[in-house]
Amino acid sequence: MKPQHVAIIMDGNGRWAQRRLLPRSAGHRAGFRRMLELSEYAFERGVSCLTLYALSTENLSRPQEELDELFGLFRTYFAEQTERLRERGIRILSIGDRTLLPADIQGMISDAETMTASGTAGTLVLAIAYGGRQEIVRAVNRAVKEGREVTEAEFSALLYTGDLPPLDLLIRTGKETRLSNFLLYQSAYAELYFSKKLFPDFTKGDLDKAFKAYSLRDRRFGRI
Ligand code: FPP
Repeated sequence: MKPQHVAIIMDGNGRWAQRRLLPRSAGHRAGFRRMLELSEYAFERGVSCLTLYALSTENLSRPQEELDELFGLFRTYFAEQTERLRERGIRILSIGDRTLLPADIQGMISDAETMTASGTAGTLVLAIAYGGRQEIVRAVNRAVKEGREVTEAEFSALLYTGDLPPLDLLIRTGKETRLSNFLLYQSAYAELYFSKKLFPDFTKGDLDKAFKAYSLRDRRFGRI
């Protein structure tokens, strides 16, 4: 069975650079190139929704110099990739608290979402200034504001990922085996796959290995 919705925690850019005695920014640029390659490949392999953890709420406390490098990559991404994705019928969606981002990037995100909104070939979700706990609290507050009790399905719909398919496979590169505040609610029954490879070294072949491992899992969703 193939995973429909795949998410990746792209960890290890900093260590990749450190090992080469390069500044962390070089690691993010290498990770960026890898992300472009893998996102294209994932859709070719039949994934319908790919969610990438590009920046957590907690990452926003990193030194300004590093944030500026990442913001620069986001700008490049939206400037260069939006039209490409639109042509391929891929819809772009950004999840997270975008008000924490520079105003021009907020504008680029809205434009990219609008321009690609009618895409039906796949969905590329960029988690930027995203936190899983913050997402859950936001959904609770939305329900409270409406003054209603919600069912599980209604609650799911209040999350950023409300209209996305259920998460099948969550991949984390970079050796750590934790979720780091990513898709906490959505990963309840996702298959988890951890790779020791640092993200800039994680190849298409490694992604294939993760898909293969997924296909061998027995997903019972708590049943027998
Ligand atoms: C974690 O590695 C990675 C990040 C905080 C940033 C990931 C971002 C990219 C790969 C570019 C994404 C761009 C777009 C447009 C989606 P780390 O720096 O925490 O690595 P370390 O654990 O080795 O220090």
